[in-house]
Amino acid sequence: MTIALVILAAGKGTRMNSDLPKVLHPIAQAPMLVHAMRAGSVLSPERTVIVTGHGSEAVAKVAQDEDEDARIAVQEEQLGTAHAVGQARTALDGFDGDIVVLYGDTPFLQPDTLERMVEARSRNDLVILGFEAADPARYGRLVMNGDTLERIVEFKDASDEELAITFCNSGLLACDARLLFSLIDAVENNNASGEYYLTDVVEIARNRGLNVTAVACDEAQTLGVNSRADLAAADAVFQARARAELLDMGVTLMAPETVYLAADTVIGRDTVIEPNVVFGPGVTVESGATIRAFSHLEGCHVSRGAVVGPYARLRPGAELAENTRIGNFVEIKNAEIAEGAKVNHLSYIGDASVGAATNIGAGTITCNYDGVMKHKTTIGANVFIGSNTMLVAPVTVGDGAMTATGTVVTKDVLPEALAVARAKQENKPGYARKLFDMLKAKKARRDNEA
Ligand code: UD1
Ligand code: CA
Repeated sequence: MTIALVILAAGKGTRMNSDLPKVLHPIAQAPMLVHAMRAGSVLSPERTVIVTGHGSEAVAKVAQDEDEDARIAVQEEQLGTAHAVGQARTALDGFDGDIVVLYGDTPFLQPDTLERMVEARSRNDLVILGFEAADPARYGRLVMNGDTLERIVEFKDASDEELAITFCNSGLLACDARLLFSLIDAVENNNASGEYYLTDVVEIARNRGLNVTAVACDEAQTLGVNSRADLAAADAVFQARARAELLDMGVTLMAPETVYLAADTVIGRDTVIEPNVVFGPGVTVESGATIRAFSHLEGCHVSRGAVVGPYARLRPGAELAENTRIGNFVEIKNAEIAEGAKVNHLSYIGDASVGAATNIGAGTITCNYDGVMKHKTTIGANVFIGSNTMLVAPVTVGDGAMTATGTVVTKDVLPEALAVARAKQENKPGYARKLFDMLKAKKARRDNEA
């Protein structure tokens, strides 16, 4: 079946109390909308339409960063969910197949739920996703008659009897595109909110003698985010789920509840993650690596057998090859560290490449920024960079070279050469003693004067 996704994301999200459109608030460091898009992508949609309104431009940008083919339909005024889906009509011109409607603020849908909906749709004209609500609160209620869904009653319009129903509307819907738009055309706004309710398509379809049913999923999947408290709760749900998945896949988390994951974190089997590690977006860690305590990683790749931390920071563009060592208080940014290379202590390696088996001594800095532009440092293989070397980029250190401790490297170093650039040491016999005596006498004079 050919599928088009329509994701509703026009709402303001007043209760978020934010300048940021609600669907752009992040869960595990990815905007809620991106979660919804990724959930929907399991259906391999032929088209994806995002209905935007509040903060339309920002929402559109995030949507198209995630999927450059995503189409944007702007809903100028939020007149209700049916009106919102109606805005997707032009973007779906010429589309022949099923529409699946998702909400941008419902980030936890599981693939099999969407697949079950599509499967049920093959036997029905219209399918709604429902769930048994622990507290039905303000959800729309599903009025069932056997397997047939007769109508959906919005909370504000429900009778006491209908309010007692606990089977609720998640908002998801699957329907043939042409049929859905024809049903939406018949929706009116004579209800308690004065809105065009998407939920009304159910009763309209039943009046036309069509088959309508509801598929059920567990409530956790339909969790919607309406406030910062919901957002925090959603993040916690995400973290718990992601940690459990990693453990299942053979990753050791020494203290799972202290590891913070991003939506796209990938970690290989038999990798060990020590306590208090934070993963920002875009991290992949291969099998058999170790990320030691209190490390912070984002936008980086860690290969098999590498050991990172404790207290390491890997920033975007850090590429660690196999068996590399990145130790305490080391920051790596936009730099390739080749196989077996070591940066073990107190260093900054940015805009650089470090060759295989090279050792970077403690306190080494690649001075990559001149205040205006960034420059690259290239360090070859089997190099020994002495402690406290400043590499003033752009600069190259050849294979097998060495820099003396404390050297400020401003010129390229040839392979196998030793670079020394520091003041020559001079020892003055007895001078320390003289200097101490002089200083003590000076202090005594001052104390007397006071
Ligand atoms: C809706 C459903 C309700 C269901 C609940 C589940 C309707 C009429 N009601 O209620 O049955 O139980 O979701 O969470 O559909 N939106 C637009 N444009 C609009 C209005 C809404 O894009 O004009 C978007 C919102 O941004 C949001 C989604 O649609 O992502 C749902 O809208 P919302 O106003 O939150 O609907 P509810 O009242 O929660
Ligand atoms: Ca809602």
